[in-house]
Amino acid sequence: MAKTLISYYSRSGNTKKMAEYIAEGFKTVTGMEVILKKVADTVIEDMLDSDVIIFGCPTYFGVMTAEVKDLMDKSVKYFGKLNGKIGGAFTSSGAIGGGNETTILSILQGFLIHGMIIQGIQKGNHYGPVSIGAPDENSKEECMRYGKMLGNLSLKISK
Ligand SMILES: Cc1cc2nc3c(=O)[nH]c(=O)nc-3n(C[C@H](O)[C@H](O)[C@H](O)COP(=O)(O)O)c2cc1C
Repeated sequence: MAKTLISYYSRSGNTKKMAEYIAEGFKTVTGMEVILKKVADTVIEDMLDSDVIIFGCPTYFGVMTAEVKDLMDKSVKYFGKLNGKIGGAFTSSGAIGGGNETTILSILQGFLIHGMIIQGIQKGNHYGPVSIGAPDENSKEECMRYGKMLGNLSLKISK
């Protein structure tokens, strides 16, 4: 059974809510085990143990937060071992055009360097779910669809 890690950093709760919605979407795909963890509670072995790894954090100066970058940097210990796993990213920002897409891309860049598989989104937020402040109904939908999409991808790949 595919194991999924959703690791998030959230200071005021907006990204945390997004993480919960993504997990909810994931769980609609039969048999998916989802582990939802704060970045502070995540160890790099969690990444090694998971088939799908999703990172989320607020947009800080247009890139991922220091806590997430620290985890990404530590994951170099398993460079080569995350190859072929599925990756994903999401973020909450204060403003439209406040750097949310570049934040997602900064996370996905790290995952691509690990050799991970990234699925883009044809309809909706193309790189991964974004929310301006707390997720509204539309962001909630984006998150749930994203979880479901990556869940289905992992089922397809594990066949
Ligand atoms: C240090 C810091 C830097 C930030 N930089 C940006 C930014 O570059 N662009 C933006 O739109 N919002 C920025 N914000 C706002 C947060 O991304 C936004 O409030 C987000 O919704 C917080 O998510 P959280 O509730 O998960 O902590 C910044 C906030 C902080 C504290």
